[in-house]
Amino acid sequence: MENLDQQQAEALGAIAAAATPEAVEAIRVSALGKQGWVSALLKSLGGMSPDQRQSEGPKIQAVREAVTAALAARKATLESAVLEARLAAETVDLSLPAPEAPRGSVHPVSQVMDELAEIFADMGFAVASGPEIEDDWHNFTALNMPETHPARAMHDTFYFPDKDAEGRDMLLRTHTSPVQIRSMIAQGAPIRIIAPGRVYRSDSDATHTPMFHQIEGLVIDKGIHLGHLKWTLETFLKAFFERDDIVLRLRPSYFPFTEPSVEVDVGYTLINGPDGSRRRVVGGSGDAADGGWMEVLGSGMVNRKVIEFGGLDPDEWQGFAFGTGVDRLAMLKYGMDDLRAFFDGDVRWLGHYGFGALDVPTLSGGVGVRA
Ligand code: PHE
Repeated sequence: MENLDQQQAEALGAIAAAATPEAVEAIRVSALGKQGWVSALLKSLGGMSPDQRQSEGPKIQAVREAVTAALAARKATLESAVLEARLAAETVDLSLPAPEAPRGSVHPVSQVMDELAEIFADMGFAVASGPEIEDDWHNFTALNMPETHPARAMHDTFYFPDKDAEGRDMLLRTHTSPVQIRSMIAQGAPIRIIAPGRVYRSDSDATHTPMFHQIEGLVIDKGIHLGHLKWTLETFLKAFFERDDIVLRLRPSYFPFTEPSVEVDVGYTLINGPDGSRRRVVGGSGDAADGGWMEVLGSGMVNRKVIEFGGLDPDEWQGFAFGTGVDRLAMLKYGMDDLRAFFDGDVRWLGHYGFGALDVPTLSGGVGVRA
């Protein structure tokens, strides 16, 4: 008994003197741990006679409880002291100047590409890409433009001086359509992709820049027809311009890689701009009284030869494709009038037309963001 009291008193003294949570922990292990002296006392109960156990048991339990309680109390005290010290050391100086408002913004081209990806993802399209440095086989030949084809000349192509390892002419892709070929070869059918990206043509004025952005769309599946194309484009344009009164007009046209080919016009309405000028807004019947028609897309059913170049059997697989200018879509939706400003890198223009980095377009929240 003497011994027990003394052991307890010593332990409580050591606990009171412990200066850190780590020191308290060391005492806990030496007392209550597997090899600890309190644990040894508890184990010794097993070897006692029932009478002895009756008298010693409660005392040993009492020691265990006293030591446990002292350890917990000391630990709490030390930990709150540590916290107090941290709070005192890490105070915030409220007199410091506030950080500057964020300056960066998302470029309208990036914004519109994000909007397009969101809209088409909802229709089951994946995003594909291809190289900007292309060879003339992917950019022209496989798209049914053999070497002598007059459409090649119309593209104002930037060529590289050297050929590639396979002897093909190298160029900066003039459109995103080569991604059609690359997707068919890489993934076979069926396919549902969009391919946004940079394209290059030697051309420059208020509505043309040597580098601009296109988005390609390609669907390959069984039994695909022009009705699928029209529905897809109508659904896309309604979501993109956030208007239900989008009216399409499909005009027969010609592209070497689609047959039949259609150019897609959309009805626009003329409204008065803030400075009294007349501005075109997409939407409305296309009636001359309100506005008129404006071309927004090139498209058509994928030419059988293109499907063959893509390594697929055109008797088994059909599809439609479309392509349009991303920059132009941005100008139409957000009311910019000079394409060159897109690529000047003027922070004032970006400050005016840019988008907040956290305004991520979603179909539920609205794909269009009011800057
Ligand atoms: N590649 C064509 C262009 O640059 C657009 C287009 C794509 C037309 C797909 C039809 C089908 O003008």
